[in-house]
Amino acid sequence: MPHPLLDPHRLAMLHALGLQQVWVPREALDEAELAALLPRLPGAPQPRGARTAGPGTPDDAPASARREAPARPVQARPVQAPRTPAVQATPAALSESRLQQVRGLDWEALQAFTHDCRACKLGDMRHHAVFGVGHAQAHVMVVGEAPGAEEDRVGEPFVGAAGKLLDNMLRACGLSRAGEDPARSVYIANVIKCRPPGNRNPEPDEIEQCLPVLQRQIELVRPRLLLALGRFAAQALTGSAEPIGRLRQRAWDWQGTPLVVSYHPAYLLRTPQDKAKAWADLCLAQDLLDGRDA
Ligand code: URA
Repeated sequence: MPHPLLDPHRLAMLHALGLQQVWVPREALDEAELAALLPRLPGAPQPRGARTAGPGTPDDAPASARREAPARPVQARPVQAPRTPAVQATPAALSESRLQQVRGLDWEALQAFTHDCRACKLGDMRHHAVFGVGHAQAHVMVVGEAPGAEEDRVGEPFVGAAGKLLDNMLRACGLSRAGEDPARSVYIANVIKCRPPGNRNPEPDEIEQCLPVLQRQIELVRPRLLLALGRFAAQALTGSAEPIGRLRQRAWDWQGTPLVVSYHPAYLLRTPQDKAKAWADLCLAQDLLDGRDA
């Protein structure tokens, strides 16, 4: 009996609705079940006689579901956590004077500092400086890029469509931004706190000015695991200029805290076939969090 979330008709229906694949808790997954249900990743060698739509798509499913198979989301344990030592992260350049300004600030003072900040041009354009949300002692801290229009309006990170996907991804790992138990909670913050106009990429001087605030947030939360989502967060925290595809699936060490890098939820909304890779990254994060050999 397949897990109800993996029922082929349900998968086909969700896909036909444009909802793509579902996120399921890893305990619900069984490798043999998935292998039977889900199509192979694009580009992977297909078994002889494999149907394009994949075994998870019934023939009477809507045409759109038959045409385009849902990307294979997961294997039960897609990640064999690398058996190599964690790679030391060397965070991107930080402004020394800004570091001095935030050194020793507590939550309240840091938040006030951020709300009053005019260190770069974004300070005059924002509605809200988007400081962060979640449990102040969460075991997991998620780092995104920068607020978008919705976040700028509301003053909270990840409240738009990408935020909904992020919440679902976290829920699949038993985590939430609104939890009371630190072990099941996250704290979410961005590399830069003010919205770049038109959602353009953050510029180096903006990152340099804002990163010390994030650094202080990390010091205050003292998470057991950092999860950097998207290129800007990944590069800012690892200090590497490599593309995200080369930074993910490695256990990084950020000043003694394990760091995992993955795709940004906004990218996953545009590229749902990479959700499988993001799930693999979350499994690696879970392994590191649980102290499994990394
Ligand atoms: N994308 C981000 O990286 N952060 C947000 O807060 C919203 C969208």
